[in-house]
Amino acid sequence: MNADDLAITVAINITDLSKTYPGATCPALDKVSAVFEARKIHSIIGLSGAGKSTLMRCLNLLERPDSGHLTILDKDVSMLSCLEQRHLLCQVGTIFQSVNLLARLTALGNVMLPQQWLGVPAKTACLRAKELLAQVGLTGFEDRYPAQLSGGQRQRVAIARALANEAKILLCDEFTSALDPQTSLDILALLKNLNRDLGVTIILITHDMTVVREISDFVYVMEHGSFVEQGELEQILLHPQHPMTKKLLASLFEKELPNHIKDSLSETPVVGDVLIRLLFSGKSSQEPVIADLIKAHGIDLSILAGNMDHLRQSVFGTLVLSAPYDLGSLEKMMTHFHKHGVVAEILGYLPKGESA
Ligand SMILES: Nc1ncnc2c1ncn2[C@@H]1O[C@H](COP(=O)(O)OP(=O)(O)OP(=O)(O)O)[C@@H](O)[C@H]1O
Ligand SMILES: [Mg+2]
Repeated sequence: MNADDLAITVAINITDLSKTYPGATCPALDKVSAVFEARKIHSIIGLSGAGKSTLMRCLNLLERPDSGHLTILDKDVSMLSCLEQRHLLCQVGTIFQSVNLLARLTALGNVMLPQQWLGVPAKTACLRAKELLAQVGLTGFEDRYPAQLSGGQRQRVAIARALANEAKILLCDEFTSALDPQTSLDILALLKNLNRDLGVTIILITHDMTVVREISDFVYVMEHGSFVEQGELEQILLHPQHPMTKKLLASLFEKELPNHIKDSLSETPVVGDVLIRLLFSGKSSQEPVIADLIKAHGIDLSILAGNMDHLRQSVFGTLVLSAPYDLGSLEKMMTHFHKHGVVAEILGYLPKGESA
């Protein structure tokens, strides 16, 4: 990284970016604003349809917003000519879930291609491509065609290709979702190294809690086309404020309940059990909330599912509990959880005889 790169403190600045697709009744982006700090890793999370991919496509100029401002590496995109935009885009690499390598080119050929588009001589492009493939751990794989590589290896080639023209910003849209957990962790480690060693700013969309926790510096929560909460990783995971953040953290953590339970759940109280999902974060995770509840009220609880994780000294995660339903006990439980700062949500009621 040179001194000019270091002088840039904001990689991308968006202000009130809006976009409505032709014929759509709601906007896909609704005045979304954010400042993506340079040389940091930013994760965007949100339910399906929230507008995450649309935003990414606006950031790499594949999509035009209807209104708002977009500044990339201190350049106001609306003021640039087509040629200037193309030059700017060379510094923005994109990796999507479908990797899109050219099948007829080798790994080396794929990484050389973006440089050749810019007129870099073949010899120089080849040297740089070899260097990049080494950086992503693919020395010895230069001559393999995409079909001869595993999914994880293809993602590595895609990362090398995205960086081929000295990209300063890497945009990743759910790029690890097709990989197994270990390969996904390896790719995350690679991105972390690229961020640390080359100072590449990374903006990624993910539905995976491991990705959020493992590499993000900042997290952005998207709902209905705008960010409803954004902040440093620790703040978002340990002190979520917005209901959507709480909902997403719980769902990102929790594997779905088994179908036989989900199918039997009733939305209205019935004779049987009540199922409650708890979200622990920050201080609440260090207190014996469940033990205290049992001690204080003698409620007969069972744990159906749970997933706890660590962030520095704090534990955070979810638990799904089942308890015999009666209104008095339910009120006591909800008051107890509220008092201890645990977010509690009633998932439904399980009729007697339907075992959890
Ligand atoms: N090319 C398009 N033309 C018309 N509508 C679109 C187009 N792409 C996306 N949309 C709509 O815009 C909204 C936002 O879609 P987008 O793909 O940005 O969501 P997302 O957050 O990436 O969702 P997912 O997590 O499922 O990938 C959705 O309602 C979607 O149907
Ligand atoms: Mg998407």
